[in-house]
Amino acid sequence: MVVGKIKTLIFGASGMLGTELCRVFPDAVKLKHADIDIRDREKVIDAIIVNRPDVVINAAAYTAVDDCEDNQELAFDINGKAPGYMAQGCVMNKAKLIHYSTDYVFNGSRKEYFEADVTDPINVYGRSKLMGELNIIKNMSNFRIIRTSWLFGMHGKNFVDTMLKLSKEMTSVKVVNDQFGKPTYAYDLAKKTEEIIVLDHGIYHITNDGICSWFEFASSIIDNATPCTSKEFPRRARRPEYSVLVNTKTTPMRHWREALSEYLKLKEKGIKYLES
Ligand SMILES: NC(=O)c1ccc[n+]([C@@H]2O[C@H](COP(=O)([O-])OP(=O)(O)OC[C@H]3O[C@@H](n4cnc5c(N)ncnc54)[C@H](OP(=O)(O)O)[C@@H]3O)[C@@H](O)[C@H]2O)c1
Repeated sequence: MVVGKIKTLIFGASGMLGTELCRVFPDAVKLKHADIDIRDREKVIDAIIVNRPDVVINAAAYTAVDDCEDNQELAFDINGKAPGYMAQGCVMNKAKLIHYSTDYVFNGSRKEYFEADVTDPINVYGRSKLMGELNIIKNMSNFRIIRTSWLFGMHGKNFVDTMLKLSKEMTSVKVVNDQFGKPTYAYDLAKKTEEIIVLDHGIYHITNDGICSWFEFASSIIDNATPCTSKEFPRRARRPEYSVLVNTKTTPMRHWREALSEYLKLKEKGIKYLES
């Protein structure tokens, strides 16, 4: 798809997904945390008005799920209120807004979740991300909210890298075997975003194909993972048991195993980017 003539602005340009988006949209206006704090409504709206983008992409978020439990106000300001400011700026500038949300807006008691299913987050991060979705929907109609899950990529803290590190430090690495989801490669999601820009407005569920437990995911990265239960591995934030997002609106992405294998090969070679 040709997006060359579409002017894009990316918030959160130095995050894991944001960095991949910068690769996919090289001509975008790229705003990092150091350039703008998205909690500042005036600055967010100004950035949109001054740059006059056709499409605003928000990859900025407070993603430390456990820390959100201790810093609730910060979580709601960044993940909940700021997307609403972006929506207001987009309306003033007649721009589309692409925003990323999460499987954690669901409680995980069902085996899979469709785009229109009822939300019911069970932790602060999920509640703050749901507030972000609602603040967008309240302010504008020309949005695409992309819910995704279990992101891994070259440019941020993620499960794959944590496993590789722990595997070297420990004889065996305990990983929970009773939470299920769909791992997603940040680069694949960034590429898919290009496609979604021109699809209908609304909520999308975009992940790599294939479902696994964290233990199964870990076992395809390292040799010394051992299964355990969530009870054996308590965290500050509760996690949904099933984080399986079903995509009914667009073509599926490749299987996570294929994406993971590519990621691991690139890491081994020390290559940060895929040639597009
Ligand atoms: N990671 C996952 O497994 C996952 C799963 C489901 C959905 N998602 C969603 O996918 C999107 C991208 O996630 P990601 O993993 O790429 O996140 P990430 O690597 O944590 O990147 C988020 C970026 O937002 C920036 N940021 C934080 N607070 C900010 C503020 N007040 N103003 C401006 N920028 C700020 C961060 O900067 P600093 O680092 O300098 O703070 C960072 O560059 C998010 O919407 C996230 O909720 C992620």
